[in-house]
Amino acid sequence: MRINVLIAPSTNRVYGLDAPRLAAAELAFVLNESSPGALIGTSGVREAGLEFLALDIDEEAWEREETQRALGYALAFSPHVFAAFEEVGRMPAPTEERSYVDESPTLPLLQPIPLPEVDLYPSTLLSTLKYQGKTNEQFTALLLHLAAHAAGRGEALRDGSLRVLDPVAGRGTTLNQALMWGLSPVGVDLDKKDAELYRAFLTAWMRENKLKHTTSETKLTINKKALGKHFHAELARSKSEQREGRGQILELYTADSTGIDVFLRARSADVIVADLPYGVQHGAKVGAHLSRSPLDLLRNALPAWTRVLARGGAMALAHNRHTTPAEDMRAILEEHGLVTIGEEMSFRHRVDASIDRDIALARKA
Ligand SMILES: C[S@@+](CC[C@H](N)C(=O)[O-])C[C@H]1O[C@@H](n2cnc3c(N)ncnc32)[C@H](O)[C@@H]1O
Repeated sequence: MRINVLIAPSTNRVYGLDAPRLAAAELAFVLNESSPGALIGTSGVREAGLEFLALDIDEEAWEREETQRALGYALAFSPHVFAAFEEVGRMPAPTEERSYVDESPTLPLLQPIPLPEVDLYPSTLLSTLKYQGKTNEQFTALLLHLAAHAAGRGEALRDGSLRVLDPVAGRGTTLNQALMWGLSPVGVDLDKKDAELYRAFLTAWMRENKLKHTTSETKLTINKKALGKHFHAELARSKSEQREGRGQILELYTADSTGIDVFLRARSADVIVADLPYGVQHGAKVGAHLSRSPLDLLRNALPAWTRVLARGGAMALAHNRHTTPAEDMRAILEEHGLVTIGEEMSFRHRVDASIDRDIALARKA
């Protein structure tokens, strides 16, 4: 059977051009993990003047409830999917639509596939903050979606128990995406201004959206040594949710990511999702020094990041191939005992003249 997907519009025009290809790679990766064998192939098709991404699904697999459920969630969590339709048949096109090339074209009969609701909050949570160096929201959701499935934790993504860490969180695009999906994320960033702006944004946003919430900010001190700051927020959509402890928690540490194992427990993250410094605008800060190469940051940080990652957990790391070539990425991840995966899928895409972005996926055995 065939599913026709309409690709979501993108506010970023350049990203939008690659979105159909990224969607195909994303859905293939996710479905291969959550419903192996169900997806036969993907292709771009044009029907009635519209571009669709067609997913050909194995008939027998489609009969199974778990396949339909896995597919429904794969489509719902994909930031690239706008709407999905099952092709239930075809009908002749109206005569005026026919061209001299094809005398008897047909049009698909498309039945909408109802998708589960995965967003908990208004989209302002993701779209309000705008700044140079912000990771595009669709791409951030892609990273998180891939990481969950690279760790084989699709179920935990759905029930809110997936433990997400962004060790280079900036002003919190990953954190907000994780909150949007009902998760309780942890972020770390060295930049004090970023942390301050994020704290101010989230607090105002929770107030405006009438969420039950509490926040606190404390000094991060380990063995009498001041490491930075720790922002803690608890939020819930209702009093009963808050009372029954069904709310969400957000932690943001203003500290050097290379030493996170000092203040985060070993194996406390199921996934590490990071948009690494590109080595272009931001620079990667290692200790007090500004390093030009994000590879230096990785070399210094991976021992701690790997310790904080749970067994079977996964990393999805976005990197700029100009400053961090894919082979170097793979080599360095493997040097730290991680198993790189998904190389057959291409998530590579152009951001601008100086950023040729790609995603490295790796699992901890
Ligand atoms: C590409 S940006 C991440 C942007 C983020 N995803 C967002 O949308 O706001 C990379 C981040 O890495 C942070 N960074 C670089 N070196 C670091 C280190 N050693 N420890 C913690 N954060 C670091 C920078 O401060 C920067 O915010």
